[in-house]
Order: sequence, then structure tokens, then C-alpha cells
Amino acid sequence: MPDTVSGKRDGDTGAYRVGVVGAGYVGLTSAACLAHLGHRVTCVDVDEPKVQALRGGDVPISEPGLPELVAEGLREGRLSFGSEHAALASADVVLLCVPTPTGPDGDADLGAFDRALTGLHGTLAPGCAVVIKSTVPVGTTERAGRVLGLPAVSNPEFLREGHAVHDFLHPDRIVIGTADGDAADRVWRLYAGLDAPVLHTATASAELAKYASNAFLALKVSYVNVLAELCERSGADIAEVTATMGLDERIGPAFLSPGPGWGGSCLPKDTRALLRAADEAGVDFAVLADAVAANTHQHDRVVTKVREAVTGSAGGSLAGMRLGLLGLTFKAGTDDLRESPALVIAARLAAEGAVLTAYDPGARGTARPEHVQLVDDPGLVAKDAAGIVLLTEWPQFRELDWAQLAELAEQPTVVDCRNLLDPASLTEAGFTYRGLGR
Ligand code: UGA
Repeated sequence: MPDTVSGKRDGDTGAYRVGVVGAGYVGLTSAACLAHLGHRVTCVDVDEPKVQALRGGDVPISEPGLPELVAEGLREGRLSFGSEHAALASADVVLLCVPTPTGPDGDADLGAFDRALTGLHGTLAPGCAVVIKSTVPVGTTERAGRVLGLPAVSNPEFLREGHAVHDFLHPDRIVIGTADGDAADRVWRLYAGLDAPVLHTATASAELAKYASNAFLALKVSYVNVLAELCERSGADIAEVTATMGLDERIGPAFLSPGPGWGGSCLPKDTRALLRAADEAGVDFAVLADAVAANTHQHDRVVTKVREAVTGSAGGSLAGMRLGLLGLTFKAGTDDLRESPALVIAARLAAEGAVLTAYDPGARGTARPEHVQLVDDPGLVAKDAAGIVLLTEWPQFRELDWAQLAELAEQPTVVDCRNLLDPASLTEAGFTYRGLGR
């Protein structure tokens, strides 16, 4: 890294005046964590009620540690919220953290991103560095730099929902993608105090690395889900197979758990965008397209498994049957239902005429999912059910009184799509148990 320091500093403290555009998972986490690291941060969002709530310390997302960091920033005067881009006029560094959802053709929809650029145009000080944290296609960062007439740096985030604060403060890596040495230096100093390898890369490499990482995680899970199907047909146990694989340092133990399919606000949209980018570049990325197809196949497989478990036949009818769902969020530890495989499966079961009740410790109270009646007691999920389908790996599901649930159910059958429960204990509690690849 170049060791010259450019840009204005906040006194001699080494702190920057940081602007953050977007107060979603990434923007709010970045703003609160950077304030925690000592910077003076102003976070702007177009959602005025959200800004008002944040000014009062009310954090709208469920993210461990975030309310505490927001409160700390507000209390110590290092964190403020606004709805006008003009509030960022004197920033040394501005982070763009706006959503880039899937567009009509599978590519990233840059509407919010471009509106942010328009809002910032002519607002930022000449020495400001623009940091792109939004996940954007190759070329977008350089375009942002041209539009704003300022150096732009691709600095992708790798925050997992439910662990965002931890991941920000303890990153596996910090990627700084730019050809501008001064801007790279500025971003490097922004993260001073974090202990992580820093990769200074070309802008395009940093942009692509984000997509590549998420798509690879998707591929890994699809691989394991197909492997689980093979285990069922060949008498192997997926847990034993993945335990063996995971001890190979080159493979690693993470992301080897079978499930109802990968989902959430990132993996699905990023795999779609990467496929689209590959297509536009004339690159045949069949292995990734297959991982997406395997994910859809996984939804089919779960629905068939439920049909088989509940009716005794793969082609049986679910019409009028009461099914209880445990978990709706796309993974445990979040309240997020975006692209949740549980909702895809619920929609499929409802389309076959099943009557669905669901309990989810994260989505409780706030969500209004389609096709299901959300209840706040797992007992109501079991009551008169022809089957229970566990879709999200909330650890508390292990601690339920399964013997009591078996008594409440009309037919004590459980389909455990996360292999969370202990088959022997469930059998002892009176359930017929089915998992994935066990
Ligand atoms: C993902 C990445 O993990 C983060 O590194 C990235 O920063 C983030 O997207 C983003 O782009 O912002 P997240 O969406 O929070 O994070 O979700 P993951 O923890 O990656 O889980 C994705 C999906 O894979 C979930 O549906 C989860 O249940 C599923 N999964 C994960 C499995 O089915 N099996 C596993 O072993 C692991």
C-alpha cells in the first residue's frame, strides 16, 4: 500500500469524515462499525421514517450487536443520520451501500445505484474518495467514478446476515479494487484497526470477486444437496460423507449442510447476475447454471418427500391436509424472508391444497407471508397436523417438547429439511422421522 495520506482528517485523530449512502444491512452495519472504529459517520437514506427511527436509536433490522453500536455512535456523537445527500458535502470518503436487486433480465438492477449517483453528483468535495460496497457488475465502479468526477474504489462487503457486525469487525479479507493509489490508501486507512489480509486488486477483479464468492457458496450447497439425494439412494449418510470431506483443508467444513435450497437476499440474485454477465461475455458457465437448476430441483425434492411422508406415496394428494411448518426465514438467526426456500416450498404445498400453519422465532409478529397462517406457538403448528416440515435450522427447535407435539399431531410425521433433529429422539417421542441424506 502507498503510505502517503491524502484527504482531510478529523483533527489529528486519524479519523475520517465518512458518508454512507443507504441504511440497509450493509450500510447501517458499515456506518455503525466505522463510527465504532472512531470515524465520524453520516448515514443517509431516502426512507425518511427509517431515518427518523434511526435518529432515535431504533434499528429496523434484526442484527446482533447492531442496536448497541448505533446507540454508542449516537451517544458519542460519531454517528448521525439524514435524508439529504448534501449532508455528505464535506466527507473524505463516501460508501455506496444501496441495494442492487435482480432486474428483468436476471442482471443487477442499478436503478437505486444510479439514483444515488445522481443525488451525489456535484455534492461531494473534490478530494473525496467514493467506495462502492454495493454488489455491482464489472465496470460499474469505474462508471461511478466518471459520473462523479472522483476516484472510485470497489470494496465489496462479505457480511453474513445475522453475523454482520462480527463479520465487519473480524473480516476474512478486505478487498480494495482501484488503480488509484491515493484512493486505495484512503480506504486502507478507513479500516485501520481491523486485523485482516488486505488485497489491493484491479477494480474489475474486486467487483467480480464478490459475485464469484457468493456463487461459489451457492455451488457448494447445491453440490451437497445433490450428494444427499445420492446418499439416500445408496445407503450412505450425508453427515459422515461431509465430515470426511470437510477435514480436507482444501474443501473445509463450512457450507456443507444439506437444506431445502439456498436462498436469501444475496446468493440467488448474485448467481443470476453472474450467469447473466458470463452470458454477455460469451462464457459458458454451465457449472453455475447447473447449481441453480439443482436448487430448483431441491425444492421439488422436498415437496415430493413431504408428499411421500404424509400420504405414503410420492404421487399422493395433499389436498385439504394440515401441515405445520417450523421455520420460514431463509436461514436461522435472521428475520429475513427474502427468497427464502421455505416460502417457495410453502407456496408449492399450498398449490397442492395443503393447509399450512407456520411458526418462526425470527419472523414472528412482523411478517405477513402468503399461503401460511403464522402462529406464535409451535404447539399450534403440530395441532391436528398430518405432518411437520422443519425448514429453517433454528437451534431452539431441538429443545421443543417433541413427545407433546406427537400427541397434538393427527399423524406424528416430521420431515427435517435441515437435519437438525436427532432421529432416535424423535422416534422415541413417537414420530416417524425423515431427514435429508440420512
Ligand atoms: C451471503 C454470504 O455468505 C456473505 O458472505 C455475503 O456477504 C452476503 O451473502 C452478501 O452478499 O451480502 P447471507 O445471504 O447472509 O450471506 O447467507 P448465507 O449465510 O451465505 O446463507 C445462504 C443460504 O445458503 C441460506 O439459505 C442458507 O440456509 C444456505 N446454506 C448455507 C445451506 O443450505 N447450507 C449450508 O451449509 C450453508
